[in-house]
Amino acid sequence: MKPHLSSSSSSVLRQARLSPYVFTLLAFIVFVIVLYGEDFNCIFGQLDLGNPARPISRTEKKWENLPFSIGETPKGCDVFSGKWVWDDSTRPLYEEADCPYIQPQLTCQEHGRPDKNYQYWRWQPHGCSLPSFNATLMLETLRGKRMMFVGDSLNRGQYVSMVCLLHSIIPEHAKSMKTNGSLTVFTAKDYNATIEFYWAPFLLESNSDDAVIHRISDRLVRKGSINKHGRHWKGADILVFNTYLWWMTGLRFKILQGSFEDGVKDIVEVPTEEAYRMAMKSMMRWIKKNMDRKKTRVFFTSMSPSHQKSIDWGDDSNGNCYNQTTMIEDPTYWGTDSRKSIMQVIGEVFDKSKFPISFINITQLSNYRRDAHTSIYKKQWNPLTPEQLANPISYADCVHWCLPGLQDTWNELLFTKLFYP
Ligand SMILES: *[C@@H]1O[C@H](CO)[C@@H](O)[C@H](O)[C@H]1NC(C)=O
Ligand SMILES: *[C@@H]1O[C@H](CO)[C@@H](O)[C@H](O)[C@H]1NC(C)=O
Ligand SMILES: *[C@@H]1O[C@H](CO)[C@@H](O)[C@H](O)[C@H]1NC(C)=O
Ligand SMILES: *[C@@H]1O[C@H](CO)[C@@H](O)[C@H](O)[C@H]1NC(C)=O
Ligand SMILES: *[C@@H]1O[C@H](CO)[C@@H](O)[C@H](O)[C@H]1NC(C)=O
Repeated sequence: MKPHLSSSSSSVLRQARLSPYVFTLLAFIVFVIVLYGEDFNCIFGQLDLGNPARPISRTEKKWENLPFSIGETPKGCDVFSGKWVWDDSTRPLYEEADCPYIQPQLTCQEHGRPDKNYQYWRWQPHGCSLPSFNATLMLETLRGKRMMFVGDSLNRGQYVSMVCLLHSIIPEHAKSMKTNGSLTVFTAKDYNATIEFYWAPFLLESNSDDAVIHRISDRLVRKGSINKHGRHWKGADILVFNTYLWWMTGLRFKILQGSFEDGVKDIVEVPTEEAYRMAMKSMMRWIKKNMDRKKTRVFFTSMSPSHQKSIDWGDDSNGNCYNQTTMIEDPTYWGTDSRKSIMQVIGEVFDKSKFPISFINITQLSNYRRDAHTSIYKKQWNPLTPEQLANPISYADCVHWCLPGLQDTWNELLFTKLFYP
């Protein structure tokens, strides 16, 4: 089953009935969801989508005069290419217990994680050093402005990390965080600044848009629907998008042509890459129409890798991220191939972009970090069965990341691209 990357409509099938393959997959998904519950909506990402032969394209364009820039990263320094170095003098950037905004799915120490080493690694690019994260500079820059993260639970993790990096310099009475439906808003009152998160795992309208109840196995995205969520992003000065994991349900993805109100009838099924490309193009059009390149910035965070199968890193003991306390040392490690084709779509769409989008390429540097996931050290929504308790590997979350931890580095890279593009 080789997926095709072409966008030809010849590969579009009318979806009249479920193929046996899809049916088996759905049955399996329903089974696992019943078994594991909340937050396992994303773990089906490891299906191999093939290994495209074409090389990954170049998304790092040099744009002139970007808003908010105060300097430049040295020419020729790719900040995403580097290595992890042990640094217990400057890490972690904050303590877990000092940031009340971390959701209980990410507070690993509170939930009994015995080791802390995952907190002490600093990303060191080969060609230069990252500027240190300056919370004062960030908040001063956001004065009278809105910064908004849009995407899935991984982007929410990065959002919370950003709030944790900033909140300690704001006094207690001058900050708040409130959630209403899909939108969470952190307010820094004295700065008249907000840092917001908007839940939209596909960016487009989908049947997984409820911010709380979104465990839907038979996922469906509506074509041409970006404004459904996009109207809530208008007026943001800095936007940080992500979308990836929710697309990973198999080789093909279902797209609704009509509206959800009309009932679910006009559906086509296309290769996942094609569906993803459609969403990326919609996002680009929305950005071009609604963002001002002279005053605002847009970021896109690449795919967050998971560590579900230890065989991927050459350990055939049927393990996963559970009990991993060291990172993967092999600098060429890339994990499962499924992400390459998606990375390629991102590259192709961004290469054609007329709007400067700053690409936060966290995939490779996060690939090494099998040690940084929340694993079993998080709030469990459903009581665990004795069978699960006897076998922690079975319920370890190898998708999300502990805070403080890896995602603080994603924000250091965001900081770098914002001020020193
Ligand atoms: C992302 O970064 C990795 C590591 O530097 C690189 O191999 C890959 O080509 C980059 N991807 C894109 C689309 O720029
Ligand atoms: C952080 O940024 C502020 C505001 O631009 C500046 O005054 C301060 O010197 C910076 N701090 C460091 C350590 O660079
Ligand atoms: C606060 O910021 C908003 C933009 O987020 C702006 O419209 C408003 O004028 C600002 N208010 C003050 C008092 O500066
Ligand atoms: C929550 O958002 C809805 C619209 O999305 C709005 O009608 C409602 O007033 C908001 N509630 C609060 C408490 O802000
Ligand atoms: C965890 O890993 C250590 C070695 O790193 C091993 O000795 C131990 O048996 C493992 N524990 C479990 C429960 O797998």
